[in-house]
Amino acid sequence: MKRLKILAIVGSLRKDSYNRQLAMLAKEIVGDRADFEILEYADVPLLNQDYETPPPEPVTRVREAVKAADGLWFFTPEYNHYFPGVLKNLIDWLSLPVGKSAPVIVKKPCAISGTTTGMHATACAQDHLVTLLSYLDADVMNKPRLTIPYILEQVDDQGRVVLTQSRKYLERQADAFLAFVQKRIECGLGGK
Ligand SMILES: Cc1cc2nc3c(=O)[nH]c(=O)nc-3n(C[C@H](O)[C@H](O)[C@H](O)COP(=O)(O)O)c2cc1C
Repeated sequence: MKRLKILAIVGSLRKDSYNRQLAMLAKEIVGDRADFEILEYADVPLLNQDYETPPPEPVTRVREAVKAADGLWFFTPEYNHYFPGVLKNLIDWLSLPVGKSAPVIVKKPCAISGTTTGMHATACAQDHLVTLLSYLDADVMNKPRLTIPYILEQVDDQGRVVLTQSRKYLERQADAFLAFVQKRIECGLGGK
């Protein structure tokens, strides 16, 4: 069986982002069941159609990374009940066709997780992200999604996310997403 490639996309560019730390814990949980990388995209410019063709080099790089992935796993914070603008900008670039080929995000299996310091736990942001990904014809795994409120209750003395109560839910989501992606591959789906 081919080894799966999971690409994590974190909606925060912050160095110590709790969502980035959540992605790192997901990587640990996935272990040797799949390759798991975090997409670096801080250098992707704001979308300006004056520079759509040829695309800027960082855009080509992220498109290739998404195309090569069997599944995309989003880890996003919530800004004002929405997902951050940096993530919208990235997805807008991914939504454009590449020459005569379909956008790289079409049919791509996607999972969504997120955490915030407050009580809303990214539920509103995730709903907006589902709407966008569905519009783009990505293949979203709606159950389970993971929302973790009050992340500061699950960090250690150094502010590192340890996920005391929520780890089992992240484990369940990892199991479900690997099965979701594997099934798409077996059915010849998955946008590759
Ligand atoms: C502009 C802005 C708006 C925010 N809006 C929300 C919100 O709507 N709901 C929420 O739970 N937290 C909100 N927060 C707090 C974030 O959840 C918190 O900063 C979180 O740690 C960001 O994620 P990160 O650690 O991955 O960067 C907001 C933060 C910022 C900077």
